[in-house]
Amino acid sequence: MAFEPKREEKALKYEELRIYTDEELKNYSEEELKNFKIKHETPALDELEKGPWPSFVADAKREALHRKKLDADRMMTDKDAVDDLLGQLQLSFDHGETHWKHGGIVGVFGYGGGIIGRYSDVPEKFPAVAHFHTIRVNQPASKFYNTDYLRSLCDLWEYRGSGLMNLHGSTGDIILLGTTTEQLEPIFKDLTHVMDTDLGGSGSNLRTPSCCIGKARCEWSCYDTQAMCYELTQYYQDELHRPAFPYKFKFKFDGCPNGCVASIARSDMSFIGTWKDEIRIDQEAVKAYMAGDIVPNGGAHKGRDWGKFDIRKEVINLCPTKCMSLEDGTLKIDNENCTRCMHCINVMPRALKPGLDTGVSILFGAKAPILEGAQMATLTIPFMKVEPPYDNLKELIEKVWEFWMEEGKNRERLGELIQRFGLPKFLEAIGVPPAPQMVRAPRSNPYIFWKEEDVPGGWDRKIEDYRKIHKR
Ligand code: HEM
Ligand code: HEM
Ligand code: SF4
Ligand code: SF4
Repeated sequence: MAFEPKREEKALKYEELRIYTDEELKNYSEEELKNFKIKHETPALDELEKGPWPSFVADAKREALHRKKLDADRMMTDKDAVDDLLGQLQLSFDHGETHWKHGGIVGVFGYGGGIIGRYSDVPEKFPAVAHFHTIRVNQPASKFYNTDYLRSLCDLWEYRGSGLMNLHGSTGDIILLGTTTEQLEPIFKDLTHVMDTDLGGSGSNLRTPSCCIGKARCEWSCYDTQAMCYELTQYYQDELHRPAFPYKFKFKFDGCPNGCVASIARSDMSFIGTWKDEIRIDQEAVKAYMAGDIVPNGGAHKGRDWGKFDIRKEVINLCPTKCMSLEDGTLKIDNENCTRCMHCINVMPRALKPGLDTGVSILFGAKAPILEGAQMATLTIPFMKVEPPYDNLKELIEKVWEFWMEEGKNRERLGELIQRFGLPKFLEAIGVPPAPQMVRAPRSNPYIFWKEEDVPGGWDRKIEDYRKIHKR
């Protein structure tokens, strides 16, 4: 079933939505900031204001000062939230231990996830962070924003939260860091009614999908990662908001094997763009690279003298399958033996391009170590065409979920289920025949299971028949 036509995107105008005036937003001077001290002594954190990298401590203090000078009735949460957060963090530095209580279950009606509840275990010392819940907000694909959107979001968060954010959480969400339980529903209402924005995922559900920058700004993208990410996010909203799975499940979309969103390591179902036909070669540009007229790797190694570009040393001899050659100054690629590793394209982006018959490889089962050890995703669908509305993909996804939702044990990731059941059972469940590309090497042990129907005579044998030929 195809996704219903999309609603037109709501155009947000900060001037119409703003909560704070310019004066309220620029309510302190550089001089005040220099002399500003937060409520608590934070000697260890102060050390982290030194050095060249942008300091989270300096940023947080600036926010603390801003809140201090804002009228108390212009915020729905404690104006000392940032001070107390830094105070508690200093205490954790002193103790070498966290000061958040275990767990926390909060949320908004209608949804089973999206908000991570948190309570301080020293609330009498740091009352402004007694509640300090995190809200996951679904980010736009590839995280392109306009300032109207971000400023509106910032105003909302200043008003109803701590003013602190994480841009972005590792899964992709915008993270609103720290508010009280009472503010959750009002924030959700403002997000949906005003900002036209939904929560992201948390819990045993489909988490917020994310994608590389894709066709928006990358010449190597083999499919529209953003469109696919958006479409599947919309289509599976129910699975995202209301946990129905044995455990968490993540989608990530990489436009090519370079893996800029690390789907192979950080998603249960990893989509990686690739092509089936030939690498497109512009021989003139190849010559220009060899002549030194174009800098290799888009200039990525300019910071050091690596000598003159040597196409044999840097490309041909580094090709993992040794399928490239140079004949009379013409670059040849034996595409049948190319594994689409991207190396040559990465080195000579102006001369080489992915082919035109593009699609995705689909890999399953990546996860972090707990319980059974870390896994990267394993190749299961070597190639699939992907075009909106992605019906073939949705069909596959639903077969995978049906299998895992039925067979998966409590808190068992898909990767562990595949390990427990074996790849053949997984392939059977999703209706994909086994292929040599699915393994790096054939098994070395001989513990091979056979299906009874594949063995002449089956498993039912009578010992008497055996004894007729073999004496005891
Ligand atoms: C003619 C005599 C025997 C034959 C042909 C025989 C054959 C086998 C075979 C084919 C295996 C399976 C190997 C594997 O799957 O890795 C095995 C395993 C084993 N056998 Fe025997 N066996 C004999 C006698 C014995 C005796 C007398 C004992 C003990 C008193 C014994 C103890 C074991 C054990 C413990 C294993 C399991 C080893 C493991 O799991 O690593 N076997 N044997
Ligand atoms: C309290 C006594 C015993 C305990 C706790 C015990 C425990 C085990 C365990 C945990 C395994 C491995 C199972 C697996 O790999 O899934 C095993 C395998 C085995 N045991 Fe025992 N065992 C005991 C006694 C015996 C005795 C007395 C014999 C033989 C006389 C024996 C023969 C074997 C054999 C042949 C295997 C290998 C089976 C296979 O590889 O499929 N065991 N045992
Ligand atoms: S994964 Fe590939 S297509 Fe996506 S941004 Fe990175 S290089 Fe470009
Ligand atoms: S993409 Fe990789 S395998 Fe293919 S020709 Fe280039 S370097 Fe060789």
